[in-house]
Amino acid sequence: METIIKKADGNNIDPEVLMQAGDIIKKGGLVAFPTETVYGLGADALNPLASSKIYAAKGRPSDNPLIVHIYRTEDLYKIAENISEDALKLAEEFWPGPLTMIFHKKAIVPYETTGGLDTVAVRMPSDKIAMEFIKAAGGFIAAPSANLSGRPSPTSAAHVIEDMNGRIDMIIDGGIPVIGLESTIVDMTERVPMILRPGYVNGEMIKEVLGRVSYDPAVFCENEVVGKAGLKPKAPGMRYRHYAPKGELVIVRGDRETVTAYIKKGIKNALKEGSRVGVITAEENSKVYSDATVLLDIGSRNREDVIARRLYSVLRECDEKCIDYIYSEDFDTPRMGQAIMNRLIKAAGHNIIEV
Ligand code: TXA
Ligand code: MG
Repeated sequence: METIIKKADGNNIDPEVLMQAGDIIKKGGLVAFPTETVYGLGADALNPLASSKIYAAKGRPSDNPLIVHIYRTEDLYKIAENISEDALKLAEEFWPGPLTMIFHKKAIVPYETTGGLDTVAVRMPSDKIAMEFIKAAGGFIAAPSANLSGRPSPTSAAHVIEDMNGRIDMIIDGGIPVIGLESTIVDMTERVPMILRPGYVNGEMIKEVLGRVSYDPAVFCENEVVGKAGLKPKAPGMRYRHYAPKGELVIVRGDRETVTAYIKKGIKNALKEGSRVGVITAEENSKVYSDATVLLDIGSRNREDVIARRLYSVLRECDEKCIDYIYSEDFDTPRMGQAIMNRLIKAAGHNIIEV
C-alpha cells in the first residue's frame, strides 16, 4: 500500500488534509497523527474492523487495548459508564492534555478496541492537529502509539515513516510532540483512582485535585524479583517488553562520581573486546565519556522536559548506530523522573546496576 504523507501546521491547518484524513478513517482506514505526547496510529474506534487493522499494522498482541481519543468532554458519556465526580474533576483540570482515564465501557465500543475488556481508556489530547483530526474523523479515534510493537514510541514523523510506511493509509506530519512520553493512565474503576502508567501528569498533581491517588504496584517494579512475586501490571501494554534497543542497555545508578568511574571502565573493557559502546548521558557529563563509540547526549539535568522529549529518539539512535553495549546514567528528575525512569527501565529490561 502507498502511504500518503502530508505536512500540517497546528496554527494553520489545511482543511483539505483534514478532510482527506477524516475520509480515510470513515472508510475504515488508518491514519497516523501527532499528539502532544507521541504520534498515534488512528482508526475509527467504533468500527471493529478498523480497530483490528491497527493490531495488524503494528504487530501488536490483540489482548492489548487501545485508547479512545475524543475532542470534547461531552462525548465521554457516549462511550463510558459510571463517570464519577473524581473523573469529572480530573477532566476539568487536565483535559485536553496528557491524561488517559479508564472507565466501564458502553456497548457501542467494540471489544476489538478494548482488547476484549469491559473497560475503555479515554483521552482528550491538546494538540491542535489531533483535535481537528478527531473532529473531522467522526469524534472517536482508537489510537496506540504509531510504532511497530516493541519499538520506542515515535516522537517525530520520521520515526512513524520508519515503522509504518507502506503499512497504513496516511501520515500527518505535525512536527515534534512537546512532551515526548505517553500520557499518564489513571484507572477510574478502582475505589481510589489508580495510576497504571506514569506520565507528564504526575501523582502529586492528581492528588492535589482529588486529595488521594493510588499506584499500580507494578509501576515501581524495578527488578525481576518483583515480577516473580506475581505483580502483573494492570495495563496490559505495560506487561510487554517495550522501547528496547537491540543492543544491551544497562542503567548505572549511584552517586555521580562512582557512576562516571564505573561507566568509563565499562567503555574501556567494551572497546578492548572490539564492541561498539554508547553512553546515554546528561549534557553536564558528556565530555567525561569522550572515549565512547557513540555519545548520546539527552540534555541538561536542569531541563527534564528536554530529557523526556529526547528519550525515544536517543533509544532509536542506539539501533541506527548499531551499538552493542549501551550504558545509561539515571535521570530521576523532580517532576517527570518517575515517567522517564519507568520507560528507561523497561527499555533496559530491568537491567540496573547500583554502584
Ligand atoms: O499518550 C498516549 O497515551 C499515546 C497517544 C497516541 O495518545 N497513546 C498510547 O497508546 O500510548 P498505547 O496503545 O501505546 O498505550 C496504551 C496503554 C497500553 O499499555 C494499554 O494496555 C493500556 O493503555 N490500556 C488501554 N486500555 C486499557 C484498559 N481498558 N485497561 C487497562 N489498560 C488499558
Ligand atoms: Mg505504545
